[in-house]
Amino acid sequence: MKIALDAKKPGDAAVDVLVVATERNWKAGVFAVLDARVGGKLSAEIERQGFKAGVGEAVLFQTHGMLPAPYILVVGIDAGRVRRSGPDEPPSRRAAPSGSTAESARSAPRTWYKLAQLVVTRGRELKATRAAIVLPDGHCSPHALEMVCEGILLGQYVFERLKSIPVHRTPALQHLQIMVDRPAPALRDAIARAERSAAATCYARDLINTPAAVVTPSYLAEEARRVARQQRLRARILDAAAIKRAGMGALLGVAQGSAQPPRFIELIYKPSGARHCVALAGKGITFDSGGLSLKNADAMASQKRDMAGGAAVLAVMSVVRDLAIPVEVRAYIPSTENMPGGRAIKPGDVVRACNGTTIEVLNTDAEGRLVLADALAVAAAARPDLIIDLATLTAAVRTALGTRYAAIMGTDAALVQALIRAAGECGEHLWELPLVPEYRGDIDSTVADIKNIGEGSAGTIIGGLFLREFVGKIPWAHIDFSSTVVADKPFDCHPRGATGFGVRPLLRYLRSF
Ligand code: BES
Ligand code: ZN
Ligand code: ZN
Repeated sequence: MKIALDAKKPGDAAVDVLVVATERNWKAGVFAVLDARVGGKLSAEIERQGFKAGVGEAVLFQTHGMLPAPYILVVGIDAGRVRRSGPDEPPSRRAAPSGSTAESARSAPRTWYKLAQLVVTRGRELKATRAAIVLPDGHCSPHALEMVCEGILLGQYVFERLKSIPVHRTPALQHLQIMVDRPAPALRDAIARAERSAAATCYARDLINTPAAVVTPSYLAEEARRVARQQRLRARILDAAAIKRAGMGALLGVAQGSAQPPRFIELIYKPSGARHCVALAGKGITFDSGGLSLKNADAMASQKRDMAGGAAVLAVMSVVRDLAIPVEVRAYIPSTENMPGGRAIKPGDVVRACNGTTIEVLNTDAEGRLVLADALAVAAAARPDLIIDLATLTAAVRTALGTRYAAIMGTDAALVQALIRAAGECGEHLWELPLVPEYRGDIDSTVADIKNIGEGSAGTIIGGLFLREFVGKIPWAHIDFSSTVVADKPFDCHPRGATGFGVRPLLRYLRSF
């Protein structure tokens, strides 16, 4: 989809649908001009339908030749009109009471994503390939524009490369015109940013949606090489022999039951003048059968998603240079399948991670923390300023937080808060769990330094406590997002399937340095 920025001339826009976003005072501004062009019929229809301009409200109006655009879609963006907070709204983002002009309510991502969602769904119903959007005066901030464009690009996503018949028979929007008072450079930059971060998010979605028969560790490694060429990154890819030489016994232990060879992927982006270095690590289990601690059929069915952490990290790296991220970013993706082959690691075996820590593997299904143990140890050895890891680590996080929130834990309160904020700004929700000191004893092992499972409660926290053993003194945050990486039903700008969760928050955070 092409996005163009134009000076406001909505009455003349030759598009299939003209979208007018309005607040409660909808009669003001450009609306009056349009209404006059259609002989006052637009306002009459809006009155008739009792439109209050609340978020998610919309009125469709047919222009019958009075304007070049056959349809006007009036969409409410008045957050003050939302009486009931959606279940997905954290308290800090709840809509302000009616009449309030609180900036937080106005710029809530949900307002703009709802608008985007309406443009996508109504556009599809109308078989529109060209749309124009008019934002009300004073609302065309770069941030709002970025979210609208991002939302539309994300909402249009379909994964149909394995369908013999296209998912949607009507073509999607091809041209989007954004109409503003003054097409300033800051607005153009916002659109360009939206295009990059939406592309990265959709790239992560593609990797996660694609079956494990295709997305193997070597496939991810080839993708990493491609990304490295495109973004001019340094790439180091270790095969099984090199992984062994590097002493990554935990990653090797997980990989030994699989016919697919493992890979350890390292990408480095170093812009000139960078004064900080951020390390990202992403769990890259391309299929998690559980190993000998085999999952049941239901639990296993969804495990092609177990490389979502690696996908998010690779997706971030796929746009780092395009977005001119101002910090050095080092990416680490330990990638393998977790399979119960004849050589598979057995419960009770002990592996040694590359920092020397020995781990008793009592449950082979707690494999994510094993591969990340090596990745975090490698990351920490490079002495970055901070480390962030993303992993579909535990099923327990979904029990704790449901499907709209992911868990975050860490050793640095400011880092954790910054990531929670960055996520909130793009409509994704992170909730901090405590790294309870009293639970640390649960992973003491009788035969090795630590064991890979706890005593059966607080599974997500135990996962965090385990990973903490490998980051040394480097400030670190861990995101366990098994709960949010795939949507079972569509919401906001996410169709069913992979959401690409985590990509935009990371990009937003990295931009902010
Ligand atoms: N890959 C799973 C976690 C998962 C579950 C991801 C559902 C996506 C959807 C992980 O490797 C796992 O199996 N964790 C175990 C840990 C347990 C054995 C301590 C779990 O959560 O049951
Ligand atoms: Zn597992
Ligand atoms: Zn797993």
